[in-house]
Amino acid sequence: MKEITADQLRKLYIDFFVSKGHKQISGASLIPENDPTVLFTTAGMHPLVPYILGAEHPAGTRLTDYQKCIRTGDIDSVGDPHHLTFFEMLGNWSLGDYFKKEMIGYSFEFLTKVLGIPVDRLSVTVFEGDAEVPRDEEAAARWIELGIDPSHVYYMPREDNWWGPAGETGPCGPDSEMFFDTGRPACGPDCKPGCKCGKYFEIWNDVFMQYRKESDGTYHEMARKCIDTGMGIERTVAVLQGKKSVYETEVFQPIIHKIEELSGRKYGENEEDDISIRIISDHIRTSVFILGDQKAIAPSNVGQGYILRRLIRRAVRHGKKIGIDHAFLSSLADVVLSLYSAPYPELEEHREFIHEELLKEEEKFSQTLTKGEKEFEKMLPNLMKGNSRVISGRLAFKLYDTYGFPIELTTELAAEHGFTVDIDGFHAAFEKHQELSRAGAEQQFKGGLADHSEQTTALHTATHLLHAALRRVLGTHVGQKGSNITAERLRFDFTHPEPMTKEQIQEVEDLVNDAIKRDLTVTCETMSLEDARNSGAIAFFDSKYGEMVKVYTIGDFSKEVCGGPHVTHTGDMGHFHILKEQSSSAGVRRIKAVLEK
Ligand code: ALA
Repeated sequence: MKEITADQLRKLYIDFFVSKGHKQISGASLIPENDPTVLFTTAGMHPLVPYILGAEHPAGTRLTDYQKCIRTGDIDSVGDPHHLTFFEMLGNWSLGDYFKKEMIGYSFEFLTKVLGIPVDRLSVTVFEGDAEVPRDEEAAARWIELGIDPSHVYYMPREDNWWGPAGETGPCGPDSEMFFDTGRPACGPDCKPGCKCGKYFEIWNDVFMQYRKESDGTYHEMARKCIDTGMGIERTVAVLQGKKSVYETEVFQPIIHKIEELSGRKYGENEEDDISIRIISDHIRTSVFILGDQKAIAPSNVGQGYILRRLIRRAVRHGKKIGIDHAFLSSLADVVLSLYSAPYPELEEHREFIHEELLKEEEKFSQTLTKGEKEFEKMLPNLMKGNSRVISGRLAFKLYDTYGFPIELTTELAAEHGFTVDIDGFHAAFEKHQELSRAGAEQQFKGGLADHSEQTTALHTATHLLHAALRRVLGTHVGQKGSNITAERLRFDFTHPEPMTKEQIQEVEDLVNDAIKRDLTVTCETMSLEDARNSGAIAFFDSKYGEMVKVYTIGDFSKEVCGGPHVTHTGDMGHFHILKEQSSSAGVRRIKAVLEK
């Protein structure tokens, strides 16, 4: 078996699928476009949902890419040897092109020929069937035909081997997961893929979107079937290199070495230090990718910015814990940049921003810590009045949650004043909070796929009209920084240095409503990005592979590169009304608007 690095795996995978007629497309931003249900892009298929649902993709019916992903549901588990908040996902898609037989063939060829995994080290799972949908005998038979031993094919229930639909109804289907057998002894008679003992590691998932779930709950075979697959880079290289943990691979080792240098501690000597080192390594990597995203997110108290803030603060706290007593994140960011600037050029473009924001946030947090200490001192007289010399778990958790005050610090301070802390109570409060946030995150992930109802489609078109109107009224420095659409409203972030005046807001509203009243026709053309730019289309989109893009034109009013979908003509959209114009972050304004019928 070949020993491969993350950089090699990325290239091998893309080259393999390109050799099978796929077009490489650019991965998307970490910030989903027009999807209010999740904060971050969670899978390679996430930006491709509209095309899986039926829209035509400008690059064709066979696609492949590597996609940066963030999943925050397990944020509190980071620190153990396996969990990550950021990871890269390799994927390939068939949009109504090849299907199950070919896909399993590609998977088998890539795993055994390109990666050189011995066939007997592979196990696969397939859908076992239930009352609604039959067992996926076709997938099982195909694996066996290719050479997988029947004893390595496992039938699993819907909770393990089913994907979708994205909403209540729509495309969905069984999947087949591929596991690498580490060769360790089974932990018991029931040990099989999915078991947590560490014998089997999942490395790839093929999703066969072949059914449509109807509103009455029944499933019908679709004529246009799609393939979606996903392979996590970090995990796969760790497994193939025979490493026990992703943190032992070349993806993390340079970051860990730098932390060792800064702290004087050694990784692998003390479990508590190791946890801190893993948390810092994971969190700095994720933070650099959020800051250095195409959409350059800064720390804040809402949305993605809040997750970023939590990651940075947690990293700083753990830095202090292992003895780093000065601002250090910036120097770690340099290591991350040197590891990832080639596959993700947007990082390099934001190098300065990344450094500035990390430094600012580190300083701000130091102040917060000082404030937290003061707060604690203030509480002391009251605590002294009581008979108990124990600080409740709830109070300790409040200090943690509100001031980012580490429990160790609370314990230390408490001890200085003759108090102990109810640590069990703290953990109980912590777990309760964690369950709540995890439930929230899971909900988010499940729901995390864009809605394409009529209302959101109209709001999407309204966003283009708004963008064009803003550029007319304020100037062409106006550029989209973010867009978020729910069934009720649109939210649009754009570059502009100062608040808009009442008159400007009115003028923008009037321009949009005028365009709606004129019942402009919306047309869509596919062309190269270069042609799109030359034709005057607004394009906030990086192309690394010269791919084709869709350009939506709204009469004489707007021309913009976009994936769609849009209304066909503007007449029925309703009355456009701006609810709010406010600051979003430095140099960025935010508009919330609705379409009134
Ligand atoms: N979308 C599939 C996954 O995330 C491939 O596993």
